[in-house]
Amino acid sequence: MSKILVTGGCGYIGSHTIVDLISNGFEVICVDNNVRSSPRVLEGVEKITGKKVKNYKVDLCNYDDTFAIFQENEDIEGIIHFAAYKAVGESVEHPLMYFENNLMSLINLLKCVQEFDIPNFVFSSSCTVYGNPDEIPVTEQTPPKPAVSPYGYTKQMGEQIINEFSKASNTRCILLRYFNPVGAHPSILIGEMPIGSPANLVPAITQTAIGKIPQMTVFGDDYPTRDGSCLRDFIHVSDIAHAHTLAIQYMLAGKITKNAEVYNLGTGNGVTVLEAIRAFEKVSGVKLNYVIGPRRHGDVIAIYANNDLAKDKLGWVTIYGLEDMLSTAWKWEQKLKADAKFYNGKFSEFN
Ligand code: WQD
Repeated sequence: MSKILVTGGCGYIGSHTIVDLISNGFEVICVDNNVRSSPRVLEGVEKITGKKVKNYKVDLCNYDDTFAIFQENEDIEGIIHFAAYKAVGESVEHPLMYFENNLMSLINLLKCVQEFDIPNFVFSSSCTVYGNPDEIPVTEQTPPKPAVSPYGYTKQMGEQIINEFSKASNTRCILLRYFNPVGAHPSILIGEMPIGSPANLVPAITQTAIGKIPQMTVFGDDYPTRDGSCLRDFIHVSDIAHAHTLAIQYMLAGKITKNAEVYNLGTGNGVTVLEAIRAFEKVSGVKLNYVIGPRRHGDVIAIYANNDLAKDKLGWVTIYGLEDMLSTAWKWEQKLKADAKFYNGKFSEFN
């Protein structure tokens, strides 16, 4: 059974990926310092898969502690690296914290990959590397634009670091550019747990609908799109998760042909903010309380993916539609409310 190390495995996409990896026969270990996540997420993973996943509560910015994990696990065949700060707005206020955390952790990890000759490395990247594209849908060859936030620069710089590292090592790397991951695992035993007030659209919608926040704001309806609101490629987190399993299987089967390969993970369907709100109202039966406010600085006007490469090379197909994304997100929000330990948006019992 191939052992895969997942960093940030107590996080949103990381935990869903661990479920998918285990469901496809992999052994998984997790590294997560739980500064912005809860180890209780792995209880949900265990309920779904029946497997107890060991978490190393380690800060990847500490090289010695990171190195020790590899000394203890000589049989790691692949790494999937999620651990990073990811709040666009926070990165604008605290750029050095983002550059230090997201890049130092990556460099430490790659130094261990080199030291222990780990053959396969998958990096959690983002469509944010495209900035405001001139043409949509974007392909993997669409030239990156200047990032609109320090968070976006950490993804662009992360990709460059990995590209250069892969040329000088035997490690094969895959960069997965997520569009907008939303929703929760169909079991509703794991899902997104934003800490504090939600920056992203779907948690803002579900928290407004459940009354956790009184009203949400649509940041602008005067954009050059079909209804004036921004356009995105929302994709179910479980579809994103399965792409990671396929990427690892692709590399273990020796199919990768370049030092580093890039794949877009989007549905290929563009949906506007207002369309997402309408779809949510339809699946939930809740009339959403929102107002139209000013544009949010740094927002990309419109972007969605051409996902042909991931389909052709990884054999990846998305199985969840927009209504599945929103209905699972809504059911998860309702579960969070029923489980008061987490509902206040902090993990008070665990940090
Ligand atoms: C989507 C749209 C908002 C909240 C970012 C990162 C990306 C990834 C996901 C980490 C925008 C609008 C939102 C609200 C709103 N990050 N919106 N009211 O900005 O596309 O992507 O988060 O994994 O890398 O770039 O996602 O959900 O924040 O915003 O109107 O209360 O929803 O203006 O148009 P975004 P988002």
